[in-house]
Amino acid sequence: MYTPTALTLLFLSSIPFGFSAAPETTRPPLKPCTIHSTTTGSFFDLRPLQLTLDGSKYQSAVNESFHARGYDYPANFSINFCDSVVETLDDVDGIPSNRVANISAFYKNQKGELYSIGQQNDQPIFRGKKLLLNYTNGSPCPELDEDGVPIDSDFAARKVPQRRKSTLMSFICDTSPLLSTKPAISFLGSPDHCTYIFEVRSRYACGGTTQSEEKGTLGPGGVFGVILGIALLVYLIGGVVYQRNVMHQRGWKQVPNYAVWAGLFSFISVSLLLSSLFSQRSPRIYCPCPYTLCSP
Ligand SMILES: *[C@@H]1O[C@H](CO)[C@@H](O)[C@H](O)[C@H]1NC(C)=O
Ligand SMILES: *[C@@H]1O[C@H](CO)[C@@H](O)[C@H](O)[C@H]1NC(C)=O
Ligand SMILES: *[C@@H]1O[C@H](CO)[C@@H](O)[C@H](O)[C@H]1NC(C)=O
Ligand SMILES: *[C@@H]1O[C@H](CO)[C@@H](O)[C@H](O)[C@H]1NC(C)=O
Repeated sequence: MYTPTALTLLFLSSIPFGFSAAPETTRPPLKPCTIHSTTTGSFFDLRPLQLTLDGSKYQSAVNESFHARGYDYPANFSINFCDSVVETLDDVDGIPSNRVANISAFYKNQKGELYSIGQQNDQPIFRGKKLLLNYTNGSPCPELDEDGVPIDSDFAARKVPQRRKSTLMSFICDTSPLLSTKPAISFLGSPDHCTYIFEVRSRYACGGTTQSEEKGTLGPGGVFGVILGIALLVYLIGGVVYQRNVMHQRGWKQVPNYAVWAGLFSFISVSLLLSSLFSQRSPRIYCPCPYTLCSP
């Protein structure tokens, strides 16, 4: 009884280690620009989308932020994620100079005037299943006439405390190889020239299982290995228990499917023997029996 008991103990003791790699309770606090989905528990890391002048471990150094075309809107947009835009901006409409360095999205109108559509924010949120990032506190919103068209800002806009432009970005998982280096950012619209809505398609918007830098977690290969190992253990232990207690086998015959393994072994031996005979091309007698070694 010694061997099965020892094997069982080994098997049981291996289970907790195999599955307790990332316990919910001991997770480190989330880094900026990362989030756990409340509905699926997946981990999202948007840091690879963050552009920097010096480059990061995910992105090479750049001097231009991401662009989104405005199409019928009379401007194109420049956007960075979780961080301020890499461009150096001067004289942004309604933004005090000490806050200009924190602008995360902006556009330039046809007259060349710069408008901020939000200050930086590195806290993505989940609204249901949708991963979102918003920027607030941009340039003052224009006043609209009764048709919803902005009244020219030069005389009417600044007298009363104003709403400020903001940006809402919805992230969509897209593993397309075309998007491996940069996301696809689509401007969806701005119903009131005050809130700007974008859709961002990226592979980094696809949830992962764990925080990539977390220690002691298993990659897909590791998980497969654990499953394979457990399956083998179950097969071995179950087989030994069955052969011992039901079939009343002893010794090597306790090994499950002993005949098959033994057969496989002798088949391989015979094959090797045959091939060596063939390669020697000697006119010796051999018998084509697959399961037992035969003597000439
Ligand atoms: C970015 O750098 C390239 C050359 O490295 C230069 O030609 C270009 O003008 C720069 N763009 C900006 C916005 O500074
Ligand atoms: C926006 O970009 C497109 C192409 O990149 C360009 O044709 C268009 O003139 C730009 N629009 C504005 C308002 O700058
Ligand atoms: C604004 O930018 C400065 C320098 O770039 C940075 O140190 C600071 O944390 C930023 N503020 C916010 C609220 O992100
Ligand atoms: C904007 O994001 C902040 C956190 O980053 C969140 O608390 C707030 O509810 C968001 N606002 C909207 C309108 O989504």
